[in-house]
Amino acid sequence: MAGSGCFLLLLAFSAALLLDEATAQVPGFQSWNCGGKENFIDEAGIEWTPDNLFIYGHIAQTNRRSRAKLQYATLRYFPSDNRKYCYSLSVMPGMRYLLRPTFLYGNFDGKNVYPKFQISLGVTYWSTIIISNVNTVEAREMIFLATEPAIHMCLFNATRGRPFISTLELRPFNGSMYSDDLEEQFYVSVSARINFGAVSDAAIRYPDDPFDRIWYSDHSGKPNEVLPMADGIKNLSTDRPIDVGFGENPPQKVMQTAVLGTSGLLSYKLKLHGFAGNGWVISYFAEIEDFGPQRSRKFRVAIPFASIPHTDRPAVNIQENSGGKFRLCEHYSVNVTLNSLLSFEFIELPNSSEGPLLNAMEISKYIEIKRGSPDADVAAKIFSSLRNDDWAQEGGDPCLPVNWSWLLCSSESAPRITSILLSGKNLTGNIPSEFTKLTQLKVLRLDGNSFIGSIPDFTNCQDLKIIHLENNQLTGSIPPSLANLQKLRELYLQNNMLSGKVPIGLFRKNLVLNISGNVELEEGGKNPIALMIVVPFIIVAVLAFYTYIMNKNNRESQNAPSHQSEGQAEPPQREAIAEPSSPVLCAAHRFRFSEMKDATNKFQRKIGSGGFGVVYYGMLKNGREIAVKVLSSNSKHGEEEFLNEVTILSRAHHTNLVELLGYCQEDGKSMLVYEYAPNGNLEEHLAQARTQTWMQRLSIAEGAARGIVYLHTQCSPSIMHRDLKSRNILLDRNFTAKVGDFGLSKPAHDGSTSYRSKHLKGTFGYIDPAYMESERYTDRSDVYSFGVILFEIISGKKAALPLLNGGNLRQVIDSAFEDEYEQDSAWKIARTAQSCVHESREDRPSITDVLREIQQARELERERKTRRISHEEAGPTRHRLRTRFA
Ligand SMILES: *[C@@H]1O[C@H](CO)[C@@H](O)[C@H](O)[C@H]1NC(C)=O
Ligand SMILES: *[C@@H]1O[C@H](CO)[C@@H](O)[C@H](O)[C@H]1NC(C)=O
Ligand SMILES: *[C@@H]1O[C@H](CO)[C@@H](O)[C@H](O)[C@H]1NC(C)=O
Ligand SMILES: *[C@@H]1O[C@H](CO)[C@@H](O)[C@H](O)[C@H]1NC(C)=O
Ligand SMILES: *[C@@H]1O[C@H](CO)[C@@H](O)[C@H](O)[C@H]1NC(C)=O
Ligand SMILES: *[C@@H]1O[C@H](CO)[C@@H](O)[C@H](O)[C@H]1NC(C)=O
Ligand SMILES: *[C@@H]1O[C@H](CO)[C@@H](O)[C@H](O)[C@H]1NC(C)=O
Ligand SMILES: *[C@@H]1O[C@H](CO)[C@@H](O)[C@H](O)[C@H]1NC(C)=O
Repeated sequence: MAGSGCFLLLLAFSAALLLDEATAQVPGFQSWNCGGKENFIDEAGIEWTPDNLFIYGHIAQTNRRSRAKLQYATLRYFPSDNRKYCYSLSVMPGMRYLLRPTFLYGNFDGKNVYPKFQISLGVTYWSTIIISNVNTVEAREMIFLATEPAIHMCLFNATRGRPFISTLELRPFNGSMYSDDLEEQFYVSVSARINFGAVSDAAIRYPDDPFDRIWYSDHSGKPNEVLPMADGIKNLSTDRPIDVGFGENPPQKVMQTAVLGTSGLLSYKLKLHGFAGNGWVISYFAEIEDFGPQRSRKFRVAIPFASIPHTDRPAVNIQENSGGKFRLCEHYSVNVTLNSLLSFEFIELPNSSEGPLLNAMEISKYIEIKRGSPDADVAAKIFSSLRNDDWAQEGGDPCLPVNWSWLLCSSESAPRITSILLSGKNLTGNIPSEFTKLTQLKVLRLDGNSFIGSIPDFTNCQDLKIIHLENNQLTGSIPPSLANLQKLRELYLQNNMLSGKVPIGLFRKNLVLNISGNVELEEGGKNPIALMIVVPFIIVAVLAFYTYIMNKNNRESQNAPSHQSEGQAEPPQREAIAEPSSPVLCAAHRFRFSEMKDATNKFQRKIGSGGFGVVYYGMLKNGREIAVKVLSSNSKHGEEEFLNEVTILSRAHHTNLVELLGYCQEDGKSMLVYEYAPNGNLEEHLAQARTQTWMQRLSIAEGAARGIVYLHTQCSPSIMHRDLKSRNILLDRNFTAKVGDFGLSKPAHDGSTSYRSKHLKGTFGYIDPAYMESERYTDRSDVYSFGVILFEIISGKKAALPLLNGGNLRQVIDSAFEDEYEQDSAWKIARTAQSCVHESREDRPSITDVLREIQQARELERERKTRRISHEEAGPTRHRLRTRFA
């Protein structure tokens, strides 16, 4: 018992000693054991730490041989995709470092496919790692001057297997001899570091080399093949101390061995990593033979200076050059062009008594440092504000050597970020303002996230072409600066919670703008007229506000009892429906969902969409054709509109109104069942020019006007349509106009003809600009919309309004008529339409007046037809226009 206790104590003591020694001896070394779980100290006293500073990638064990070092038991590997995976290392600016990643495959994936991939330092391509053996450690070394507090080492471009890494070692230098004028332009990639005349195969490194460089044995065959090419080459070694000076010269142990060309020639071939290219060669010499003053060792160095004649090559006298025996001297060959196979020769001079000697050699390649993207800092800030998802873990420069997966860059040498592609990434918080600093940005996609807050100011991003911000939870108003982006072609803002007015500059021809689904957004400012009439409408607005207050008071006192008595299905916006909804709903027929499914053959034939849902064709069991409007469930206001429409439509019956046959509300689905209008709607008809004659169009106009007259004057309380447009005028089998889509309808209260709403609704191009200004909707607002429809009827063109501002009637009238119309009749309709869209609501006619005008126009046209028949023999009359619009 006593014996074993003593043994344990001893063990603990020696371990503590080792740790102390290690941490004391190796200041500045950073050694990561990739995929490792805990720290350990190796036999040389170097402490290894797990690479968990880098959280991405997968950890694997290698099938390591028992001889291999502990740091090769694990590794970290990455997916084989087109992304890059970067380690970020802290360094001290101004210091020179040696960075060494190593790779031992060890068949970690059990596939025995030797991986091939690339590595980079910063944005600069470094090397291609080609694994060619299961148990060979591939290593790369780079010497660099730190200019920033961090440097990235990245793995990328897997062309075979999976990229992986076993260790990563960072060693600071002290002075350094590796400094030169070019180090801010070039990294130095170490290609060979050879200890000649080595006494064993083992490489020399820390602690013999205080900087932990690896001096490979010249006869180990690895990593460089060193092939002697001359006879009489001998090993030479000494135990005597060698003065290696200070700084980063090779350590004494390396200098204590050498090769000797006893026949007068020392000739080698070397296989080099990473060449062809330009680099440098340093040869190290120290006289380690103890001979008398009569003897000398002089030779020429012949490293490929192709242009220099043999005899002019530099001569070395080791003893003289070093200032004595057992002292180091060196010979540099700077900026030489080398191939992957290097031949060099040292040739004894005639007046030398001894053959040439070589102790060690270092060969490195210049690698030009690439500049990163000027957007890198900004991108890094964006990156750090994103969540730690896999896709955000690439690191390094956003563009080089390969771009991050969520952005695109230009192809310049200092690339700029041109596209941000972050759709549907589940991002939260405010939109990082850093995006606005990407001045070359062309495409910004942030749609389908959960961004909150307001839209930042993109004034600095004048190249922006496409912006997707839809389907977020953005609030605030649309910044007017968006309108100043001259190159902007597409702007998607739908389904946010934006409010305020849409900047007028966004309504331009070459810009696709979608702002739907922003309930609080006022679609004001679209029509220039709206701006021109601001002042007169201040007066109207004051009056309207007065009316509103009066109405509101009335309404509140009316609603109070119903609020108490109705415990169920209260529409969210009570003011939308004057009466309690359920009694009215009882009056409408309720269909079962299964009935609807059968009638529409499982919702097979889609005949329209828009507003708040999709419309399907169906047929009831009794053979009646129906149109089933299925309200989209995601629409917050769908249900409110639904109840509203059922309420209103079920009490409005007229030949010129679409008949509501019933409704269906089950399983959270809401549907409206209408009579089917086999000839589609007026908009389609005008587009397809199917309604060719003026007379036919007049009767459609008359029918529609009749329907509206009914709504305005014969319903009690009267109903305003609120979304009149040619698409909402349906045509039945006989082309009878039927006004439909009352989803936005609201009854006027107590015969009052004005109504103020919190939310502006309607369709662009048809909305009364006065309503946009005052937020007050009157029956004359419907008249305005109807005026726009009349213009479409005359011209056959959508949004025909601008045509009338000073255009002549001939240009306006649909060419489809081919002059087959009564000009007085067309003139009458045009004048009526003009008065309908009068800026001032007071000057607009009532819908009843409009109907009368249309009827008179029809009368004129009827007369013309009769006239034409009777004058047929006199030849067709061509009608010329006499008048221009004022
Ligand atoms: C990726 O590797 C392939 C083959 O090794 C090479 O042709 C290609 O240029 C590399 N791509 C990059 C971006 O370095
Ligand atoms: C680094 O340089 C300092 C003096 O500049 C010297 O005292 C120290 O020994 C050097 N360290 C190594 C490891 O050479
Ligand atoms: C030098 O010594 C090593 C190890 O003893 C041996 O393998 C190698 O062949 C020797 N080289 C020459 C040129 O004799
Ligand atoms: C090396 O020399 C070549 C000309 O042979 C020159 O273009 C290059 O810039 C030089 N490189 C360095 C690192 O001096
Ligand atoms: C040896 O020969 C070289 C050239 O062959 C000459 O430059 C040098 O001065 C000679 N040295 C002596 C000591 O003769
Ligand atoms: C980088 O950009 C290219 C197009 O330039 C794109 O195809 C690729 O998906 C982007 N991402 C990555 C990780 O390469
Ligand atoms: C989005 O993020 C939230 C919390 O951050 C999480 O609960 C949700 O599962 C994520 N959804 C997706 C699709 O990633
Ligand atoms: C606007 O967005 C909504 C919702 O995503 C979509 O239904 C509608 O078709 C879009 N409108 C246009 C003109 O793109």
